Amino acid sequence: MRRSTRLLAAFGVAALATTMVGCSDSRSEGDSGDDGPALIGIAMPTRSLERWNNDGAHLDDLLKKAGYKTSLQYADNKVDQQITQLQNMINQNPKVLVIASIDGTALGPVLQKAAEKKIKVIAYDRLINETKDVDYYATFDNYKVGQLQGEFIVKQLGLDQGKGPFNLEPFAGSPDDNNAKFFFSGAWDVLSPYVKSGKLVIPSGKKLNSNEDWKSVGIDGWTSTKAQSEMDNRINSYYTGGKKVDVVLSPNDSLALGIAQSLDSHSYKVGQDWPLLTGQDADVANIKNVLAGKQSMTVWKDTRTLGDQVAKMVDQIIKGETVEVNDTKSYDNGVKVVPSYLLPPEVVVKDEVKTKLVDSKFVTADKIGL
Ligand code: BGC
Repeated sequence: MRRSTRLLAAFGVAALATTMVGCSDSRSEGDSGDDGPALIGIAMPTRSLERWNNDGAHLDDLLKKAGYKTSLQYADNKVDQQITQLQNMINQNPKVLVIASIDGTALGPVLQKAAEKKIKVIAYDRLINETKDVDYYATFDNYKVGQLQGEFIVKQLGLDQGKGPFNLEPFAGSPDDNNAKFFFSGAWDVLSPYVKSGKLVIPSGKKLNSNEDWKSVGIDGWTSTKAQSEMDNRINSYYTGGKKVDVVLSPNDSLALGIAQSLDSHSYKVGQDWPLLTGQDADVANIKNVLAGKQSMTVWKDTRTLGDQVAKMVDQIIKGETVEVNDTKSYDNGVKVVPSYLLPPEVVVKDEVKTKLVDSKFVTADKIGL
């Protein structure tokens, strides 16, 4: 049986049991508090990025099939909109809120209202900071994502064999996204020794003396267009007189898409001078670029497994069981260390697209032109 099918079978029964308890006189923990199945609120950041559409749809589907009621909301990357949506959900007395935040530091007051109603909160993919009112965190290992990107660059360039110097342009994610710091740190811990030794040089002169400087190369809102214009600026200003970009550290696919467009418009050619370019998410447009040689890799996070894990945690909360976590050290939100479940990300390169992404049905062959 596939993992998700097994999971559904297991907690489908549990949800039914919860509903039945809800109909009787004595109410146990996990009871919805009324006669229907428990309500689960799901708050996602935006529809504009492919991954969040997939994440929301998968989790919603899983919870509905297990017998829960759901309220799935997307917030157009606007913090105020997400807060209003959460407030509306709280008014409907959900048992659990699953939240992929936009600004992880902006939800304290609204989550205090959730806590007053004993609503449990799971931070989904992105940690929620500076509040005690977040109960669990489920994510992929964000530091590892960056580490995989850094190690890929070291290997492909042959830095350990003494090759170089190479021209590197580093990018980071949105400064308001807690994950972006982890992605950058993972990569920079691997790459900075080569910057110090001079094997990697940064012609644009971005000063990254420590991991803490990551915001200076961050792209607001993770937008492709902003990444594209930043890359345009760097190429126009610092790559004159035949100087070429050899490698670009891009933390995710939406940035990599804009960077690839900039390289295209500056006449870089695959097979000739196209630089190494990293990414994350395995978005359809980026898988196509990987196949076309315009992106060297993507870090794949099979978001279905994150949905499976979160659905399981929701079920454990509702049944009053111990909630499964595997990390109680890494994610300090400024007020407490949030018990976390970390999933492993993995690299996908061109000749693995079929075996890893198509065969697992993460994407269909026709969508990516295979
Ligand atoms: C997620 C990435 C995503 C990025 C932009 C991050 O928090 O972990 O998978 O690419 O946000 O949406």
